[in-house]
This record gives sequence, C-alpha cells and structure tokens, in this order.
Amino acid sequence: MENWIDREENTLLNTYNRMPLVVSYGKGCYLYDDSGKKYLDMFSGLAVNALGHCHPELVREGKKQLEKYLHISNFFYCKQAIALGEDLISRSFPGKVFFTNSGTEGVEAAIKYLYKIGEQKGRQGIVSLSGSFHGRTLGALGLTKIPSVSRDFPVIDYPVHEISREALKELETLFENERPVGIILEPVSGSGGIEGVSREEMTGISDLCKKYDVVLCIDEIQTGIGRTGKFFSYQHYDVVPDIVIFAKGAGGGNPLGGMLVHKDMDGYFLPGDHGTTFGPGPLSSALGIKVLEIIDEKFLKSVEKKGRLLQEGIEKLKEKFPESLGETRGKGLMIGVDLKIHPAKIKECFFEKQVLVNITAINVLRLLPPLIISEQEIKEFLKAFEHSLIKMIPE
Ligand SMILES: Cc1ncc(COP(=O)(O)O)c(C=O)c1O
Repeated sequence: MENWIDREENTLLNTYNRMPLVVSYGKGCYLYDDSGKKYLDMFSGLAVNALGHCHPELVREGKKQLEKYLHISNFFYCKQAIALGEDLISRSFPGKVFFTNSGTEGVEAAIKYLYKIGEQKGRQGIVSLSGSFHGRTLGALGLTKIPSVSRDFPVIDYPVHEISREALKELETLFENERPVGIILEPVSGSGGIEGVSREEMTGISDLCKKYDVVLCIDEIQTGIGRTGKFFSYQHYDVVPDIVIFAKGAGGGNPLGGMLVHKDMDGYFLPGDHGTTFGPGPLSSALGIKVLEIIDEKFLKSVEKKGRLLQEGIEKLKEKFPESLGETRGKGLMIGVDLKIHPAKIKECFFEKQVLVNITAINVLRLLPPLIISEQEIKEFLKAFEHSLIKMIPE
C-alpha cells in the first residue's frame, strides 16, 4: 500500500493535525479507508457534510450540473445562483445575498459592508465576543477572539471591541461610548466550546442594536443550514438580524458561503466594491438548491429529535461516569460535552472503535454528525462512547 502519510509530510505544509486515516471514499455517515474499514463520522467535515457523504440526490444533481458548465464568471447571469439566493431569502428574511467560497470570505464581505455603512453614518468599529471564531483571513482574524488562533498575526487597522459574555451588561456603555457600526456573534460558539447565547442575552443584544443603530451580524457558518434544528439558529430566538453569514453545510460538501443582508440594509455595495472570481460556483449553487430542498421543516424536526436522543444518551453516560464527563450542551446536532479525562486519549479510544470525533476548546468533545444520522447510528456512537470511557478507567 502506498504510504500517503509520508508523502504528505514531504509535500504539504504542516498546518493540520491529522488523524491516521487515509480516506478512500465516503457513504452516508461513514468514511472508508483503502482496506474497506469503515468509520462512523461524528463531525462531518466540521459541519460541512450535513447530508452525509455521497447523498444520492446530491450526486444526481452534481452530475447534471457537470454536464452543463462549471464556471461562467461573474460577467454573466448564473441561474443556479439566483435561484439559490431566492431560496435562502425565503428561509430567512427579505433581503439580498452576496456569495463567497468559504466562511471566512463571508466574514470579510461583512466587514467591508459594515465599513461602508459606517462611512455613511460616520461611525466605525465592530464588537466581537470573547471566545468567538470568525475565520482565519486577516480581517476575520481580527474578530476571532480565541488567542491560540489569533495570536502571532497582524490584524487589519480597524477598531474591534472585544466583550466577554459575562460582561454583556456593559454592552450598552460600549455602544454609547464607542459608537461601533456593528456587532458580530455566533449564537452557539463552534470552536469556543459550544457555548450558547441565551434567549435573554440575544433579545438584550438585539434591543440595544435597535436603540443605538448598531448592525446585528450573526455568524451562522457552523450553526446554519439546519445544524441546530432550525434553518438558521437565530430562528430559535425572537430576533431578526441585519446580516447573516453562512457557509459549511450550504454547498452539500462543495465550497459555498455568503452573506445575507436584510432589505433595510441594502444598497451599501456598488459594482466594483467587492467580488470574487469563483463565488458562487454553479456546481455549489446547484447542490445548494438541493440541500435546501431536502432540509425542509420535517427534516428540521428530525434534527431536533435526534439531537435530544443523543444528548439524553450522553446524560445517561454521565450518570455512569461522573468522574469522566462534565456538562453536555448544545442545540440540535451541535453538541458539546465537557471532558474531565485526557481529550487526546479518548479521541484515540474512539478511533480504535472506528468512530471519528473532534475536540475543541481544549477539552470539549464537539459532535457535529451528518444531519441524516439514523437513530441506530446514534446508538452505535453511544455504545462506542461507553466502551471508550470504560477503557479510560485506570486499572
Ligand atoms: C463560526 C465560524 N465562523 C467562521 C468560520 C470560518 O469558515 P471557513 O473555515 O469556511 O473559512 C468557521 C469555520 O470553522 C466557523 O465555525
């Protein structure tokens, strides 16, 4: 068998900590290696493969688009992008869309948009929450408030005001004193440990935004496209954002992201202000239309139900292993479990049981399974979890 691991070491820049799995193909909730060994994928490419691997309807749709065209440039009208934009608007609020290829580019688009709004209103600056992750390009990195990610790099010369969740009561003073253009936040922090903004906090932030004319910008890159049991997670709250940024699951595994701008905020970009060669890819758009068609209300209900089942199963494990597990939290199929045991070791135990899991925020087990996961597969995961916890008990 060819040694892909050595070949990679000699070829690709060392920016990722990989698991020792060379993937041959994926199907449903499983990834397979060259020997045919299958692994239950409990983080689905970090929330990208929302419909699992090789979903038959996505494969069919993709093949149809491949036979038409893959790229036409932004000089021409792309029917798939227009139709996808209409679908996204119908699932959120009246407004307009700008498409990108990734999440961080969606955040960059939002920063530029906020800058333009600020220019007209005579204000500047963005508020970002401690522990938040908004991307790794230099603009987005300025809003990313996880020191291990943002340290060592320069950031753009634009004011960013960090505020911790605990200090949200001081937000009004910040709005009053600094007069920022906007605030950006994740309703459930993906890389920050699956910490959710409460209903009360979200309503409070939204009310202050209205009072001080601050743009409410929600980063739905990880929480969006059905992940939390609503199409966008802000729909769990009683608020309507001004800007929503999406990516990850939107293109069914193909790169697709973007920013949705409420109609009341329309008009700040003019031709030439922003653009990208590849966004939106016609293939990604065609797949995105299918993704949205599949993730309907019935599908979203099933996400909520399966999320509950998964959390209840983990709670039972916590009763059995109180020394190993702490709090379980999250919404829908975005779940975090505090680990009191060595995170890398439990990850290894899972791997031996052919289950792929992700750890974030040092000791939080982050579960983001494909939204199509079956109840049987959830049971399979819980069994592997129990066996891994037993294996971790010192002899
Ligand atoms: C909440 C959030 N924002 C932004 C990003 C950046 O997206 P991308 O990696 O597609 O650039 C991510 C990626 O994990 C994310 O989870």
